[in-house]
Amino acid sequence: LHQRQPIIAIDGPAGAGKSTVARQVATALGLVYLDTGAMYRAVTWLVLQAGIVIDDEQGISESGRLAIAELANQCTIELTPSQSLQSPVQVKINGTDVTQAIRTVEVTSKVSAIAALSSVREALVKQQQQWGQRGGLVAEGRDIGTHVFPHAEVKIFLNASVSERARRRQQDFQKQGQPIIDLQQLEQDIAARDWKDSNRTVSPLRKAEDAIEITTDGLTISEVTQKIIHHYQERLSQL
Ligand code: DC
Repeated sequence: LHQRQPIIAIDGPAGAGKSTVARQVATALGLVYLDTGAMYRAVTWLVLQAGIVIDDEQGISESGRLAIAELANQCTIELTPSQSLQSPVQVKINGTDVTQAIRTVEVTSKVSAIAALSSVREALVKQQQQWGQRGGLVAEGRDIGTHVFPHAEVKIFLNASVSERARRRQQDFQKQGQPIIDLQQLEQDIAARDWKDSNRTVSPLRKAEDAIEITTDGLTISEVTQKIIHHYQERLSQL
């Protein structure tokens, strides 16, 4: 017998369309949407704000690591679902609204280094598991089906080619009125981040054995959403 509501875990690389799809699925099924990437981004913002140096070559100093562990363990993160599907989830860390600030190029370029730290992952995973105790959520990230919620009823691994993901990211920047970055640069950035996320020692990005892989090239958001809802309904009918 299930004590908790079902959980849908959606993992996959950056730009596969996870956020938009996860939100649509959550809205359609009346589940809560949990954006775990936003949590890693918020901690990264806090680290940068504290002036801790994350050097691309040298990495992070020992004292920096200690300070980061402390920040991650003591921070309070609040995620407030937005009213419309268009506006992002509101993210606060230690009371400061960082909804916009966590989407900058600066945070995006440093977040993989922060997400690779076991101290940070432990602190954030604990928080995610607490929020997930009652179930009833669509959780999106890199290690949800493999590590955070290994017993999730539905596990989806969303993927897309690097070129497709670069194209989508460029459109996102365009929509946000940010300066346009050329496709080649975006492809390089995405490939670099994939590599870091998939090759870190702690909870690397990988498909859970029991996850269903969906490649989203050429599919619309609503087609992907429908596929996931279909899997969910099929799975629930088996329980
Ligand atoms: O999904 P996103 O781009 O907002 O994620 C930001 C970064 O955080 C990404 O580089 C990978 C990392 N991340 C992670 O390691 N584990 C998660 N569950 C979610 C995100």
